[in-house]
Amino acid sequence: MAPTAPPSLSVSVATTVPICPPNAARKQIVTSRLVLRPVGQPDLSPLHRLRSQPEVMRWTKLGIVDNSLEATQQKLDPFLPPNDLTTYNFAICLRRQDREGHETTQERSGENLVLRDDDYDDEHDVSGEFIGIGGCYQWGLGPGENTLLGWPGLGYMIRKEHWGKGYGSEFMEGFLSAWRELPRQEIVRTVDESSVFPVSDDCKAADKDDDDVQVGSTTAQIKAKEQLCALTEHTNFVSVRLLQKNGFTKAKEWKDKNHHPGGTDDVTLVAWLWDSSAPPYQET
Ligand SMILES: CC(C)(COP(=O)(O)OP(=O)(O)OC[C@H]1O[C@@H](n2cnc3c(N)ncnc32)[C@H](O)[C@@H]1OP(=O)(O)O)[C@@H](O)C(=O)NCCC(=O)NCCS
Repeated sequence: MAPTAPPSLSVSVATTVPICPPNAARKQIVTSRLVLRPVGQPDLSPLHRLRSQPEVMRWTKLGIVDNSLEATQQKLDPFLPPNDLTTYNFAICLRRQDREGHETTQERSGENLVLRDDDYDDEHDVSGEFIGIGGCYQWGLGPGENTLLGWPGLGYMIRKEHWGKGYGSEFMEGFLSAWRELPRQEIVRTVDESSVFPVSDDCKAADKDDDDVQVGSTTAQIKAKEQLCALTEHTNFVSVRLLQKNGFTKAKEWKDKNHHPGGTDDVTLVAWLWDSSAPPYQET
């Protein structure tokens, strides 16, 4: 795919958006080796340590580490109440083990993935070391959120000591299952044309008078499948692999100014989409 023009939000679609439970009512997502738990203020310090690793931060827009706890606090705030209603981000933690290496809970089910209510007590809390953060960090509805093509955005970062052990893949599988299962409400949103996949082939035309779709008091040009969007730099091969193996498809590629210190050459950004209504993806 050759780079095209940057995203422009020009098509109004009737679609769905998850109804996001607040942190306090959120379920933990438990996978084979990880616990994805709601983010809280005590995560400031481990988040700062994560965001102090240049190897991790080089894949962010600005490419720089946080130079103070205040800078990290600004990154944490969107995930704390009351902002937790429009983000769905999780602390990625190792499952806690006792000294002999056994899990401290008897709750492990036969399946890999367990969604558990957050009314656990310490004895049942299996979340151990914070190794990263990931999930939906932006609802995609605000001004200047064009890069997400108008859809909610997925992001993730893990401490470099834990790379290459499959934790990113495990996070992705757990998060996407939980995202798919959230209740939905209908909305109208304005999105980039490249991201519009009609719910039914009959709805293809954006013919104003004939095919407008009504949602409450708002009308949209088309009824479209809900998408989750992830943005990568095109040379972030690990992230690209993670997205592809989980069923994300490339929607758009464009050149952007390089915001990294001393960065001169433009960077190529790629927006990836995942159909939230599609059945679980099986890699072939
Ligand atoms: C992206 C990130 C979360 C991946 O976490 P991870 O735990 O290392 O991921 P995994 O171990 O599950 O590996 C994911 C896939 O990438 C592959 N991979 C690993 N290193 C690779 C490389 N250098 N080139 C290509 N693929 C690579 C793995 O083999 C695996 O694919 P497979 O299952 O087919 O074998 C982690 O690298 C990270 O935090 N990076 C910095 C922040 C970042 O880039 N965030 C995303 C911004 S878009």
